[in-house]
Amino acid sequence: MRLKTLAVTALAAAVMVGCTAQQPAEKAAAPAAKAAKKAPPKTLSGASGAMLASTCEGCHGTDGVSQGPATPSIAGMSQDYLSEAMEEFRDGDTKSTIMGRVAKGYSDTEIVAMSAYYAAQKPYGAGQKANAADIAKGEKLHNKYCEKCHADGGSDATDDSGILAGQWTPYLHYTMQDFMNGDRAVGRKMKKKVNLLLEKEGRSGLNAIIAYYGSQN
Ligand code: HEC
Ligand code: HEC
Repeated sequence: MRLKTLAVTALAAAVMVGCTAQQPAEKAAAPAAKAAKKAPPKTLSGASGAMLASTCEGCHGTDGVSQGPATPSIAGMSQDYLSEAMEEFRDGDTKSTIMGRVAKGYSDTEIVAMSAYYAAQKPYGAGQKANAADIAKGEKLHNKYCEKCHADGGSDATDDSGILAGQWTPYLHYTMQDFMNGDRAVGRKMKKKVNLLLEKEGRSGLNAIIAYYGSQN
């Protein structure tokens, strides 16, 4: 009897997951029911990170490689960075156009499961074209002001500062604007460096750094 109740609960949960994940309910029901019998599911609904992440695909692309310039690629960023970003969106600590509403639908456990899934994907560099002189200038300025925390030209995700290398430049421009407007929290040290950069090099210095990030593959 207890098993049956469990299975029914799992099915109900799977149907709910089916809705959020925009997957056919039958497809989601099988693994969830199985999980309920075998071991306690990782998330309350029994959905895996991959299942939950299918809701994100429409904007962040398959496996977190976004095709749209205003939507960041999230593939390969560290689990901590992704979880923290989602929590900040959800709790309203980071202003956003879309993610505040999206993130509200997920529990802490679900956020961790999705973050682990995306952290395991291969990072992608969009290799956007830019003026060669800007790229060279951007690399120099990056090394001076940003490399300390955004190591390996912004490609190292292990330090929980996100991945800047190969990111879409329109996204980088608007998230930097959010930092400068105070709509996105930023550590005191990064703020100091960005302010110093703007003071010495002006906006064109920041634009060159963004061109450098965007150009990487
Ligand atoms: C309707 C489009 C859309 C959907 C669906 C969506 N996102 Fe986003 N996401 C965005 C946009 C746009 C941003 C930039 C922040 C903003 O303005 O909302 C973003 C930003 C993010 C960031 C921050 C990236 C960074 O570099 O700091 C993370 C993490 C993220 N999304 C995860 C997710 C996850 C996980 C899901 C699925 C549960 C998801 N998103 C679903 C559009 C979307
Ligand atoms: C003292 C360390 C530090 C320095 C120096 C630093 N950053 Fe950051 N940066 C961070 C951390 C940590 C984050 C993640 C912040 C967060 O959103 O919580 C971040 C996030 C970012 C993001 C957002 C990434 C995303 O995916 O949304 C951009 C863009 C960025 N930094 C650009 C720069 C630039 C450009 C410089 C140099 C002028 C710089 N940073 C210098 C620590 C630093």
